[in-house]
Amino acid sequence: MPSVELKLPHHRYEICVEPGLLGTLGERVKQVAGHERAMLIADAAVAGTLGQKAIRALEAGGYRVVMQAVEAGEENKNLVVVSRLYQTMVENRLERKSPVIALGGGIIGDMAGFVAATYLRGVPFVQCPTTLLAMVDASVGGKVGVNLPQGKNLVGAFHQPRLVAIDTESLGTLPKRELRCGLAECVKHGVIRDAELFAWIEKNLAAILGLDKAALVELVRWNVAIKAAVVMADEKEAGERAHLNFGHTFAHAIEAAQEYGAPSGYHHGEAVALGMVAATRLAVAAGRCPAEVLKRLMGLLERIGLPTRGEALPETEELIGYMQVDKKVSGGKIRLVLPERMGAVSVVSDVGLGAIAEAWEGLR
Ligand SMILES: NC(=O)c1ccc[n+]([C@@H]2O[C@H](COP(=O)([O-])OP(=O)(O)OC[C@H]3O[C@@H](n4cnc5c(N)ncnc54)[C@H](O)[C@@H]3O)[C@@H](O)[C@H]2O)c1
Ligand SMILES: [Zn+2]
Repeated sequence: MPSVELKLPHHRYEICVEPGLLGTLGERVKQVAGHERAMLIADAAVAGTLGQKAIRALEAGGYRVVMQAVEAGEENKNLVVVSRLYQTMVENRLERKSPVIALGGGIIGDMAGFVAATYLRGVPFVQCPTTLLAMVDASVGGKVGVNLPQGKNLVGAFHQPRLVAIDTESLGTLPKRELRCGLAECVKHGVIRDAELFAWIEKNLAAILGLDKAALVELVRWNVAIKAAVVMADEKEAGERAHLNFGHTFAHAIEAAQEYGAPSGYHHGEAVALGMVAATRLAVAAGRCPAEVLKRLMGLLERIGLPTRGEALPETEELIGYMQVDKKVSGGKIRLVLPERMGAVSVVSDVGLGAIAEAWEGLR
């Protein structure tokens, strides 16, 4: 099965999408990273069955595997857990060429990637994402990092993997709510880059939600190709990579508000769904985008089971306050990614606070 290739000026790697791929992980890793020892950092939720499968495959490829299971959760994506991982690696004499392999969702991928970026000033890194979000988004593009008590992802690096090995069968045990959250990012890719993808998801949603093998492979490959294309065009987020933030300036405000005590409890993908609706409604109201886009977006999100209304959201004033401290703000202006039509967006920084407030109000 052809893989997606991510080519950067100083580095290239393959993103392989295949059901059952974990079974040949050892062979694959051997082609891109040194021999002998490998550090497997596994999400505790998948360390059992998938972890054992990965270990067997790595051993068959000649590796002696050191595995450490880590609980997912933003509260564990921190420097305390990272230093525990460093310690295990020193004790087991992991070397410059020993690969660090992440098996899990975006939490594990970001944290294991940060370990790989910094241990001995950088060792080979391999991503084996097991959530849909990690497959189509977090595992591709080399952004790695951890949280500080003061905020999310405040410490990090760019450290591209040597290989992204995606076994779509691992989605079999993923909670449905997490699957829906991953789909929010797929819908996002459709809106920002690819009207055809959006229409394909509309048409194939039942097969996707039913975990149809072929549909999942197609969905993941297509989305990975889009994420890879955006990263290739703009690795360090100087321009086009910002398009991936569609819906996210609103979403981050929702997430920040709930971190500080609001009881709504949206997961990331759910906050992104609300954020995409808010941004699109704003674009329509400003005459920048046909109303049809909002209608199709809301229709698809609702069929997926993602929220399009947020009755319990905090006060608009509080949410705008969080938008103004988001790290994507530049020169005091809130920059928003707004759709122009299905499959095309632009970055806009001249939207007035009144229009932003109306977009929040529109969600209620
Ligand atoms: N680096 C990037 O470019 C980038 C992009 C987007 C998001 N992220 C980061 O990704 C993180 C979110 O990732 P996520 O949505 O994958 O969340 P996550 O890693 O918390 O995983 C979600 C839940 O699913 C469980 N899980 C994972 N795989 C499973 C499986 N196959 N079966 C059953 N349960 C499974 C996990 O234990 C967890 O409870 C955030 O920290 C975010 O900052 C990074
Ligand atoms: Zn996101």
